[in-house]
Amino acid sequence: MFEKIERLHFANLPTPIETADRLAQHLGLKQILIKRDDLTGLALGGNKARKLEFELAQVVKMGYDTIVTVGGQQSNHARMTAAAARKLGLEVVLVLGGKDFNEFKGNLLLDVFFGAEIHYINGSDEDEDLETLQFAVCEELKKEGKNPYALPLGGSTPHGTLGYVKAMEELAGQLHDDKVHIFTPVGSCGTLAGCVLGASLFLPNAEVTGISVSRTVADITRRTKVLAAQTAALLGLEPAFADVKFTVYDCYHEEYAKHIKIAMDAAETCARLEGMILDQVYTGKAMAGLFDLAKREVLRKDSTVLFIHTGGMPEIFADTINIPDYPKCTKYTPDAVRKMKR
Ligand SMILES: Cc1ncc(COP(=O)(O)O)c(C=O)c1O
Repeated sequence: MFEKIERLHFANLPTPIETADRLAQHLGLKQILIKRDDLTGLALGGNKARKLEFELAQVVKMGYDTIVTVGGQQSNHARMTAAAARKLGLEVVLVLGGKDFNEFKGNLLLDVFFGAEIHYINGSDEDEDLETLQFAVCEELKKEGKNPYALPLGGSTPHGTLGYVKAMEELAGQLHDDKVHIFTPVGSCGTLAGCVLGASLFLPNAEVTGISVSRTVADITRRTKVLAAQTAALLGLEPAFADVKFTVYDCYHEEYAKHIKIAMDAAETCARLEGMILDQVYTGKAMAGLFDLAKREVLRKDSTVLFIHTGGMPEIFADTINIPDYPKCTKYTPDAVRKMKR
């Protein structure tokens, strides 16, 4: 099915599946499986590696020399696109939005490592503002004689979406029973659209649920359906394959990049029960949704959940916690230690 579509290789695939038994017990669910897409590789990994394999194959084929993409200040997509561009010997320009652009840390620090040219809007990460600036930057580059490719937010194009259609094929080969409830965080919708179409093709008994990190249910549903249909057309499939049921929740976030208590609590519980690391912008919110749906028994107790860990690890290092604020931390002087008996 994918044979005729060009693809590059950035990701270490298949990514492993781990069981989270202590978490399943905590939530009263039969089983929780974690699909470790945070381990794809490509500059610390994440879901974008799969999308970029297909999307950037088109960029190479069309002979562009510069990739111009957009995202929030701590965009994982921007970081991974910058790394992929460098692997391909291409120039990379990042148009970023958010607030308080004071320090390079987390993903933004890695963007600097890759030598990306950065244009930022201090005070807005609205899609429209980012796209306006992206367009203006591309026009300037063209005047300089460059051939820029404007890569949309999150790499959520029909080609990018193929990455997650293929991921569902991979998953089908790893699971003994496809009666699973797939959970994924949702931003620009390519991952969800790929899961929806891919599950319809390869995991007919699976259910797919997306947890929004910023958009409304209506916006996500519309975008996901359009992307799934366009991607089905790319594969030469009947539209019916893309026209399948999926569920979206938009009640587990406030602002896109804002850290919220339910996500921090879910991430802390996962860390303490499973030694699992979640970020606060994507996977923490999706896990908060899973916690709530399990607690309210919207999810049946006999469910097997397949949680896609989509990555986002560098964002964690954009945060700091003051040492005196951590109660389980005891301070010693060297003198005090040297007086201790052994
Ligand atoms: C870590 C992480 N998880 C999930 C997503 C959401 O994926 P999508 O934009 O395909 O909806 C993103 C997007 O940037 C991400 O960086």
